[in-house]
Amino acid sequence: MTAAKPRVQNVIQRHGRRGPQYDARETPETRPHDGACTLVPGRARIRNVDLTSAQAQFEPEPGWLNTASYGLPPTSAWTELQTALGTWRRGVLPWEMTGDSTARARSAFARIVGVPEHDVTIGAQVSQLLGPMAAALPEGSTVLVPQEEFTSMLFPWLAQSMRQVDVRTVPAAELAKHITDDVDMVAFSLVQSASGEVADADAIVAAAAETGAMTVVDLTQAAGWLPLDASRFDATVTGAYKWLLSPRGSAFMTTTPGLRDRLTPNQAGWFAGEDVHSSYYGPPLRLARDARRLDISPAWFSWVGTAPALELIEQVGVETIYQHDLALANRFCAALGHETGDSAIVSIDVAPDAAERLDTAGVRTAVRDGRVRASFHLYTTDDDVDLALEVLTR
Ligand SMILES: Cc1ncc(COP(=O)(O)O)c(C=O)c1O
Repeated sequence: MTAAKPRVQNVIQRHGRRGPQYDARETPETRPHDGACTLVPGRARIRNVDLTSAQAQFEPEPGWLNTASYGLPPTSAWTELQTALGTWRRGVLPWEMTGDSTARARSAFARIVGVPEHDVTIGAQVSQLLGPMAAALPEGSTVLVPQEEFTSMLFPWLAQSMRQVDVRTVPAAELAKHITDDVDMVAFSLVQSASGEVADADAIVAAAAETGAMTVVDLTQAAGWLPLDASRFDATVTGAYKWLLSPRGSAFMTTTPGLRDRLTPNQAGWFAGEDVHSSYYGPPLRLARDARRLDISPAWFSWVGTAPALELIEQVGVETIYQHDLALANRFCAALGHETGDSAIVSIDVAPDAAERLDTAGVRTAVRDGRVRASFHLYTTDDDVDLALEVLTR
């Protein structure tokens, strides 16, 4: 694949909301495509919600500092999911309504990351969405990846080794300076899963634009707390079950039309059809013209929970969430004598018995190799932070 030159602009950018009152389901592109029908009317109405009201929608037990592993659902998502599960149990689930949830989710995601809706593909996992892109790499391509990268963003490229695809790994912090003329693709997480390190996207995008390398970016640990603009990258992939507060099983990919044209929709089924509900049987191949042609059919209940979760994030605003998450992360760091930073995920050295003590106190973090990874999101409170600090400073 030859790269489409990405535009250089600030990654941390406030992108405008579309105004306080409109109905996402009235978006003309979504309704006919996804065969929407209404289970819970009026849920997609966009309005401003302050952080305190949003926090009242969550019910975590004290000490949840592990959104980097999975996010918690707001009441709106939980309730819609229970309603749908109830109808399934009684055999009255209008399954087509999951097309409505999927359309709402696609639409909200597009607005959150700043791309047109027709550039958004839906899937189940990051690695699954990357499959067609990895398969489209010409033999002999070179892919540059951070050496500490999460494997769902690394294995798809490594799995192409029998086609002589060369995967070069370098420290995440040095990615930009390793983008040489022979690099065809740079694949990296905007926020690293283990360390919380935020990539220098400006430098990486600028270096890639200079050499013509393509940029493929994993937003799983970024979208939902870090204000960002996905349109500056050739492609992005995002698992929604962490910072986007969704059930496991929903994920998104964004692609530029130029890149998309070079991908074979290997996983195409009825849901990738131009008109979904007349694509159930028989030839000819009649795929959607936009990014939906790379869709897989939705795992119903995952998407029922995803739509309201994304709508809440949009209603609160990523900028507000960013300020909240960062303030807590930095208070945590400062109290432990650790340098403050720019990430909602922090990873710090701890005493050998810290994991056990945190566990006993009911504080849920991820502790690996003598480091505690704590992550802070919109439902995290000062009390959660204090609980962890009490254990770690004892
Ligand atoms: C950066 C990143 N990407 C992707 C994933 C999940 O990948 P998949 O959706 O393939 O399970 C994780 C999970 O921790 C992650 O941290």
